[in-house]
Amino acid sequence: FATIGIIGAMEEEINLLLAGMDDKQTEQHAGITYHRGFFQGKKVVLTRSGVGKVNAAVCTQILIDRYRAEAILFTGVAGAVDPKLNIGDIVISASSLQHDVDVTALGFPRGTIPYQDVSEYAADAFLIAAASEAGERIFPGRCYQGKVLSGDQFIAERGVVQSLYEQFGGACTEMEGAAVAQTCFMNGIPHVIIRSMSDKADGSAHVNFAEFTVEASNRSYAIIEEMMKSL
Ligand code: ADE
Repeated sequence: FATIGIIGAMEEEINLLLAGMDDKQTEQHAGITYHRGFFQGKKVVLTRSGVGKVNAAVCTQILIDRYRAEAILFTGVAGAVDPKLNIGDIVISASSLQHDVDVTALGFPRGTIPYQDVSEYAADAFLIAAASEAGERIFPGRCYQGKVLSGDQFIAERGVVQSLYEQFGGACTEMEGAAVAQTCFMNGIPHVIIRSMSDKADGSAHVNFAEFTVEASNRSYAIIEEMMKSL
């Protein structure tokens, strides 16, 4: 890939990457900050999208149009949905969907965008393999491939997280991944989402999120750092 786009939603999620970049140049588009430069000798554009699906989609389209990103990596934290996952575990997206799309009143299944062939977006097989191999090397037994559920909601309720698991069989929930994935799909650009669990999306989620976001962000970063060697 000539240029790799790397997105995190929050400051904590991009800090270490930013610190590791050389020859940085910073620019703003649509109120979003883009840092171009080199990471491990590879040309990258690092950006903090801001939280939520609209920010993530706009950010991704700009990476593709203005910066000619040929692959997009998302790094950050998520709430665990699959009960087997613990705080600190890592999910590499096999696919992602928007769990908050609800046109059930018109007979469409939850999460399905009407009149569209695809509502669940597969990540790129090569990028999944690169992330999984890197993850296994540095956090053995703590990396899982799974479905990422995105929505403009911070999930912090046991009943809600259980229903997400039952309805979608999701691995984790966050607020940007599927928007990045859909934008990449619409443009024919490969992507993968890498998320470390900061909480379990239950009644303790807000407390755990505050406590574990930095550590979880750093784990996700460590995988990006390791996988870059094979890109
Ligand atoms: N990101 C981290 N934890 C989350 C949660 N519980 N819900 C949505 N996004 C999150």
